[in-house]
Amino acid sequence: MDLGISEKKALVNGGSAGMGRGAALALAIEGADVFITARNAERLSNTCDEIAAQTGAKVVPVVADHSTAEGRETIFLACPEPDILITNCAPPPFTGDYQSISSQDWQSNLDVTLLSPVELMKRIVPGMVERGWGRVVNIGTGAAKYPAEIRILSGPPRAALVNYSVALAKAVARHNVMINNVLPGMHHTASVAERYGALAAQNGTTYDEEINKFVEDWHIPANKFGDADHFGSIVALFCGEQAGFVTGQSLVVDGGQSNSTF
Ligand SMILES: NC(=O)c1ccc[n+]([C@@H]2O[C@H](COP(=O)([O-])OP(=O)(O)OC[C@H]3O[C@@H](n4cnc5c(N)ncnc54)[C@H](OP(=O)(O)O)[C@@H]3O)[C@@H](O)[C@H]2O)c1
Repeated sequence: MDLGISEKKALVNGGSAGMGRGAALALAIEGADVFITARNAERLSNTCDEIAAQTGAKVVPVVADHSTAEGRETIFLACPEPDILITNCAPPPFTGDYQSISSQDWQSNLDVTLLSPVELMKRIVPGMVERGWGRVVNIGTGAAKYPAEIRILSGPPRAALVNYSVALAKAVARHNVMINNVLPGMHHTASVAERYGALAAQNGTTYDEEINKFVEDWHIPANKFGDADHFGSIVALFCGEQAGFVTGQSLVVDGGQSNSTF
C-alpha cells in the first residue's frame, strides 16, 4: 500500500531509538522527508545515517531536548512546517510505592510526557490547518487506558494527553488534520534492552529469560514482546492519505494483554 506521503515532511520527536525510530523508518520507507530529534547526538547521527542508507530518503538529525522551550525552538527552526508530527519520549521511570513519588518527579515527568507534546501540537497544528493537510500521532502507553501502580508516572500524563488530543482532533478535523494516539504495550526497544539487560545482570539470568518471565507474570497472550519497527509501521498508517477519516482514536498495541471488548 502506498500511503501517499512521499512529498510530505515528517517530524519525529524522540526518534533515534525504539518505537520512535521505528516510526521514522516507516515514514522514510514511504518517501517522506524525515526530521528526527533526540538529545544524544551520536546515537541520533547513526540512526539518521542508517535510515537514509536503507531508504534513500532525506533524513535530518535535530539535536534537541523537546521537553524544554529552548529545545522546541531548535526543532521549530529546523522543521518549521511539518505535515506529519510524531510525539514520543523515553519511558518514565518504573515506580514502586506511590508515596515515594515527589512533586519534583511529577513536574519533570509532566514536562516530557504531557507538556512537550501539547506545546508541539499547539505550535504545529495551526500551520497544518492553514495548508489543509496534517497528521499527528502521539506515541503514548497502554497504561494510559489500563492503570498499574508500577506505571503511575507513565499512564496518568498520557491519559491527559489522549484527552487533550481527542478534543483538539475534533476542532481541526474539518481541515484534514487528523490526530490519533498509538498506545504500546511491551516492545523490544533501547529502553527495554537497558532495563531488562540490567535486571538480567542483577539476577544472574539472560535478557530473554527476563522477558519470558515478564510475559508469563503479566499474561501477554501473544507470548512475546512486540517489534519496534512493526509498531512504527502502524504509526505510519495513521499518517497516510487513507487516514483522512480516522481521528481522535487511541489504538492499543499490546499483544492482547489488555482486557476489554473495545
Ligand atoms: N518499550 C516498551 O515496551 C514500552 C511500553 C509501553 C509504553 N512505551 C512508551 O513508548 C514510548 C517510547 O518508548 P521506547 O521504549 O521506544 O523508548 P526508547 O527506546 O528509550 O527511545 C526513546 C527515544 O526518544 C528520545 N528522547 C527521549 N527523551 C527525549 C527528549 N526529551 N527530547 C528528545 N528526544 C528524546 C531518545 O533519544 P535520547 O535519549 O538521545 O534523547 C530515543 O531516541 C515511551 O513513551 C514509553 O513510555 C514503551
